[in-house]
Amino acid sequence: MKEKIQPGNKRKVVIVGAGAVGSTHCYALAQSGLADEISIIDRNEDLVRGQVMDLVHGQPFFPTVSIKVGSPADYADASVIVITAGAAQKPGETRLQLLQKNAAIIKSIMGDIMGQNSPGVVIIVSNPVDILTYVALKYSGWERERIIGSGTVLDSARFRHLLSTHCGVDVHNVHAYILGEHGDSEFAAWSMTHIAGMPMEKYCPVCQGCSDWQAERVQIERSVRDSAYHIIGYKGATCFAVGLALVRIVEAILRGQNSVLTVSTLLNGEYGLSDVCLSVPCIVSDMGVRKIIENELTERESASLSASASILKNTVKELDSL
Ligand SMILES: NC(=O)c1ccc[n+]([C@@H]2O[C@H](COP(=O)([O-])OP(=O)(O)OC[C@H]3O[C@@H](n4cnc5c(N)ncnc54)[C@H](O)[C@@H]3O)[C@@H](O)[C@H]2O)c1
Repeated sequence: MKEKIQPGNKRKVVIVGAGAVGSTHCYALAQSGLADEISIIDRNEDLVRGQVMDLVHGQPFFPTVSIKVGSPADYADASVIVITAGAAQKPGETRLQLLQKNAAIIKSIMGDIMGQNSPGVVIIVSNPVDILTYVALKYSGWERERIIGSGTVLDSARFRHLLSTHCGVDVHNVHAYILGEHGDSEFAAWSMTHIAGMPMEKYCPVCQGCSDWQAERVQIERSVRDSAYHIIGYKGATCFAVGLALVRIVEAILRGQNSVLTVSTLLNGEYGLSDVCLSVPCIVSDMGVRKIIENELTERESASLSASASILKNTVKELDSL
């Protein structure tokens, strides 16, 4: 396996945003042993100081890793920068006002990253992730490979979990992808869903786990889409699964793994779509997105992907500036 980082070089990850997602990701990343150094940056200085103190007290139980409060200077030698910074919606604030605010935050962070000539790959996590990935790309002028959105990596994990539970099969043996927007217009790519190498059309009759698999599919797809709403309703934020999904993306980059992940990437003619960031299967490696995999979709899936793209493009048009 090709390794980007040579012996003696640090595997350094900078996490921007020390809130629920950033701190949970840091905790999971520290346990993974993938990074030598993790710096966390947040504009809330007390929060980031407290999070780092709490995390470093776990060092006797982690693989060796340095965790510290970071500053923009840390971008200069970072291999990966994970941006989870975002403003929370205030009462009375519209979706568009929040979007403008988060776009400004992403541009300001990208400005700092560019100011340090960072060699790192940037992973955008803050929502709306597809729009903010697009904003970061347009603002920086960087090549599309190096700025990726966490996209539907989390949603695909939710989909695999639900299929695994439904079919009674180890989740590691379920291959399944959610494509499109990370949000309401996302959809399950059933034509790409496999168990034991069998497409679901072949697996369902063998499985015989339910009486009406078509109805079950609709229900599973809806459950994936509504997961975040339910979790946020119960506990105010989602953090554990997304923190782990981010570890998986960081791993693919740090280890140059060529992993197939549904990250959000800028399409440039692939799937007949251009100038929009959304999730399709990509090969993720040391430089970010190494290749976009163009699979044959069914007519319904193609229409869903185009619908997602239209929704995202219309949202970008609402922004004051890029
Ligand atoms: N893409 C996904 O799959 C996914 C999943 C869950 C959450 N999210 C998104 O991740 C983001 C973070 O969620 P959270 O629950 O951790 O929110 P949070 O409010 O707990 O944390 C956000 C943090 O960002 C910090 N911040 C704001 N502006 C900053 C700036 N300019 N520089 C540095 N730090 C700044 C805030 O101080 C805060 O600590 C949200 O946008 C959320 O919607 C994405």
